[in-house]
Parts: sequence; structure tokens; C-alpha cells
Amino acid sequence: MANSAAVPEQEPLSTKSESAGLSTRGGIVVLDFGGQYTQLIARRIREQEIFSAILPCNASLDEIKRLQPSGLVLSGGPSSVYDVDAPACDAEILRLGIPVLGICYGMQWMTRTLGGNVVKADRREYGPATLDREKDSALFRGLPQHLKVWNSHGDHVAGLPDGFETTGRTDNAVAAIEDRSRHLYGVEFHPEVLHTERGTEILRNFVFEVCRAKKNWDRASFISETVEAIRKRVGNAHALCALSGGVDSAVAAALVHRAIGGRLINVFVDTGFLRQNEFAETLELLRDRLGLNVTGVNASERFLARLNGVTDPEDKRKRIGAEFIAVFAEESRRLAAQTGGAAMRFLVQGTLYPDVIESVSVKGPSAVIKTHHNVGGLPKDLPFELIEPLRDLFKDEVRMIGRELGLPEEILSKHPFPGPGLAVRLLGEITPEKLEILRGADAIVVEEIRRGGYYDKVWQAFAVLLPVRSVGVMGDFRTYGYTIAVRVVASEDAMTADWVRLPWQVLERISVRVVNEVRGVTRVVYDVSSKPPSTIEWE
Ligand code: XMP
Repeated sequence: MANSAAVPEQEPLSTKSESAGLSTRGGIVVLDFGGQYTQLIARRIREQEIFSAILPCNASLDEIKRLQPSGLVLSGGPSSVYDVDAPACDAEILRLGIPVLGICYGMQWMTRTLGGNVVKADRREYGPATLDREKDSALFRGLPQHLKVWNSHGDHVAGLPDGFETTGRTDNAVAAIEDRSRHLYGVEFHPEVLHTERGTEILRNFVFEVCRAKKNWDRASFISETVEAIRKRVGNAHALCALSGGVDSAVAAALVHRAIGGRLINVFVDTGFLRQNEFAETLELLRDRLGLNVTGVNASERFLARLNGVTDPEDKRKRIGAEFIAVFAEESRRLAAQTGGAAMRFLVQGTLYPDVIESVSVKGPSAVIKTHHNVGGLPKDLPFELIEPLRDLFKDEVRMIGRELGLPEEILSKHPFPGPGLAVRLLGEITPEKLEILRGADAIVVEEIRRGGYYDKVWQAFAVLLPVRSVGVMGDFRTYGYTIAVRVVASEDAMTADWVRLPWQVLERISVRVVNEVRGVTRVVYDVSSKPPSTIEWE
């Protein structure tokens, strides 16, 4: 589901914490049945300063117990419990004495597994409904009798397992159930989406009132524990950090730098797919403002050669991933030869949680959407051990960590930029001429977005070059040039996104300037697709 339209309001971030220290123990484990909102559940819980990890629904009991969770959430999912290959958890999780909240499919699976009755519906029920509470429940403590909720289900619960009672209904179905003595809870609707009124409070009630979890997920302790863990792991070895110029790799580098100091070497590669002036400006920023030891490598020719004639998006991503690793391996050997030491043993990357989830999924039913180069696109025979200190974090969490580390706002507020860069924003075959056109158009888009005061309010704003040419007319001459698509999206964490309703005046300025100032473009279009069903990047 897409976020609310237009420019998002920044949610207030809690700054106080009763935390005794960061821990991935004692949090909430979300078991994924393949639902499109699974990541949102984890996110909402982490906003309560409680760690939350997503595991595939078929994770082993040992894997789950290792995290010593205070509670479990069973996500929704696209399946019916009656499907032949309906996903399932180990039923033992319902007997561990750990509180469980089943959401949608999670509730149906729990009901059926415990001997209740789930009815197959002819038609799925999507969208808003009103929840009428029936009985007092810790889940709804402090909430009104009637609540607007968001449904997305086919089957529904018709008969409760022994020991359960109904605590809420909508017009169409049993909407909330619980067995208080066994600490088992279920809701048919989705408390994690913004369309459910006070849904976050329902999750908060589950976490604090039912699970009695203790706050354990805050920035300062994340930094100290992570730095300590890196120091231990790296020992006396050296690490190489792949900087992209964006916030994630800068924060990752700053953390590792804090842990091992001069034994971290940073490399910033010019792939030839960077934005206008980005290589020089970013190098300066990283060196002078961040004080990082950075080697700049100009590899644009070899990247271009590797992509020669390639048009398939996944092929592009995989080739770029492999070329990055080849460059890092060479740099590592070169630096080692220079210092007379051993080659770098570790490679530091700014991989984030959504990258991990979207590219390798959680081994459960969620599908692989795209290969993000810094995870899925890595070659099998990687000559490094990976350090990915931000693997458990969402982007806004990374920005908070960066702020806590004292990184400059220029870096923290930068829009995300994909590792494969303009290569995945230039559809079809890549040539130096087309890259030049895209760079020019992109610079104008970003400049006008800044001028309009939108840069810090949107998730990303960029240009895409389409391999489509169309006819134009410029001062009595017929022209035949490329089309630039402008993409501006609002998002909380890139898992879902909506296109931004920019004022016409801003779009007009972009359009006029791109066609007038960038040779080879005759047409500008605005992308009005949300994610899902589209993705943010075009490839
Ligand atoms: P999509 O296109 O999957 O993008 O909706 C979601 C977010 O991820 C960024 N992105 C990437 N970041 N390496 C990265 O580091 C990649 O290969 C990559 N592909 C997409 C994208 O810009 C958006 O913010």
C-alpha cells in the first residue's frame, strides 16, 4: 500500500529512552508469512524503541529462541490456510508461553492450528471497515469503542479455538480474538498501516501491556555496542569500506572508523554512473568534512565497457556488482603492496534492512523484487568477509545514528542513490552521450526541487532517460529527441512510496528548463505511479 499522498509530515521521533542498553534480545520477532506489510510491523515496533527482527515463518524454534523474544507477531500473507502449500510456522511457538499476536493470515493460521474454524471467502475484502469492540482487551487499552481499521483478507474466522473469546467485530467478520491465559491474540485487520486509526497504539499495547517488553533499542547504545562488536571481529586486520557518497555507507564508515581507526581504508569509485559533479564534490565532503581517509578511483571506462550492449536490468545490476568487487579487490591488493601489509580482509558496506529483505527475502514466501548490488549482486567467490553494521536498520534510523555520530547534514539529508547509479535510470543500452543527457536533466530536476523547498520533504527526486524518441519543434526546426521522465516520491522507508503532487509551477520550470537546456531532449513526462505496484527506480 502506498503512503498518504503528497509530501509527508515528519513523524516526531522519540528521544528519551528508559533503555538499559541496546539489545537484539527481548524484542519482538515477526514471523513472515509473505505479507506486503511485514516490514511495516517491524518498523512500528522499533519506533517504540523495542528491537524487532523479521524471520521467515518456517524459522526453526532454535532460531526464534536465540533472540529471546518477549513476543511474537505472525504477519499477514497472500495465501489461504486452505492452499495446498499454505505457509506454516512450527506450531510449538503457540505453546512456548511467549505472547503471540496473529495478524490477518497469522490469525487465521493460529485459529486453524488450534482447532478453530476458518471459512473460505468467495471474495477478498479490502479497504476500510469499522471495528466494534466487544470486550475489554489489553490490546485496545485506552482506545475508543469504535475504530476505523484497514482490512485486506479473503478467509475469516468463523469458529474460535477452545479458550478464545471475541473482543471485536466488523460488519463482515470476527475482527479480534484472544485467549488471555495462553497470551494468544489475533486481529483480522492491519494495525501496522496508517489507514488503521490508532493502529500503532494497538501494537504498542501488545508490546508493553501484553509482552511487557522493556525498551532496548536506542541510538547511543546501538553505536557503542556496534563499535565494540566490530572491534572484536576485526582484531588487528584491515578493512576496506565501499563509499557511495550516500548516507548509508558514510554512517557505516564512521562506525567502523570509530572501531578500528586508521586500519579502515575507504574507497569511492567513479563508476561513470554518478550524478553531475558528484565524484569531486563527494570526495571533498568525505575527506574534508568527515575526516575520512578516502581513495578515489576513476573506473568509469571499465564499467562502461562491462555494460556495453547490455539492456536487461538484472544483468546490468549483476555486472555492476561484479565490477565493483573487482575494483575493490584490486584496490585492496594495491594498498597492501603500498603499505607492505596483507590485503584487506573485510569489506564494509552500508547495506540496510530493506535491501536485505527485498533482495534475498527472508527465505520465506516473500518474493525477490530486485537485486540490490550491495547484497544480492555480490559474486559467490567474494574475496572479503562482509561487515554490514546497518543491516538491521531502516533509513531513518541510519540518519539518526549519523546525527548522533556528528555527521554533517549535507550527507544526512542526501536523497538515496542506488549503487548502480544512473545505469538503472537510463533504460536500455548505456552510452556516454545518453549519460550526459541524463546527468544534465537530473541536475535540473534536483535544482528545481531544492529551489521549490521540496528537497528535504521528499524521499527522492530524479530524472530517468527513456529509450523513446519523439518529435518536437524548436524555433521552426523539427527535432527528434529523447524523453525524460521525472520521478519524485514520498516514502517512509522505500518499502512503499507515493508520487508527490508537486505544484504545476515546479513541474513547468523543470520541463521548460530540461527541454531548453539539455540538448537531445524533446519531451518531459511526470511519473504518477506509486510503489507498489511500481518500484521507485525504473530498473
Ligand atoms: P526500488 O526501486 O526497489 O528502490 O523501489 C527502493 C530504494 O532503494 C534504492 N535502490 C538501491 N540502493 N543499491 C542501493 O544501495 C541498489 O542497487 C538499489 N536499487 C534501488 C532506491 O533508490 C530506493 O531509494
